Amino acid sequence: MSENLYIPETSTKSETYQAIIPQIESLISGEPDLYANLSNIAAALKQSFNFFWVGFYLVKENQLVLGPFQGPIACTRISYGAGVCGTAWSEGKTQLVPDVDAFPGHIACSAASKSEIVVPVFKDSQVAMVLDVDSDQLNDFDETDQLYLERLMGILASKI
Ligand code: SME
Repeated sequence: MSENLYIPETSTKSETYQAIIPQIESLISGEPDLYANLSNIAAALKQSFNFFWVGFYLVKENQLVLGPFQGPIACTRISYGAGVCGTAWSEGKTQLVPDVDAFPGHIACSAASKSEIVVPVFKDSQVAMVLDVDSDQLNDFDETDQLYLERLMGILASKI
């Protein structure tokens, strides 16, 4: 397995996702350890898009607990239904938030975070974890991010 990620230099966001998703799939396919795989997924997304913050919160004892991430330090625990991550968990649906200040109950781990997308990952029809991606720009995520991040989380879900 190669540890190099090929990121096309001039490409659209869709093309970048299309280039990196099969590489991430191959990177995690031979590795059974969940935390190793979550770490590499967070790193690959950070390396490809330079997201302000990207990482995982895992469901543990009825809370979301911080897992592997890339970016500034973050809140460690989030309650069911709280903030964007807790809402993605309670609703079992991706949350696309163009302006975090307009989202009721948003948890500001960093004052620099302006927009956010959170994608749930399912195991046995239950949310097992969420992927959280934050930007320091308003309105930085759209349906393209949702499409490909949900696809990537589907690949991850098939391995857990
Ligand atoms: N803003 C998130 C909390 C997690 S941090 O952004 C890393 C929320 O409202 O759930």
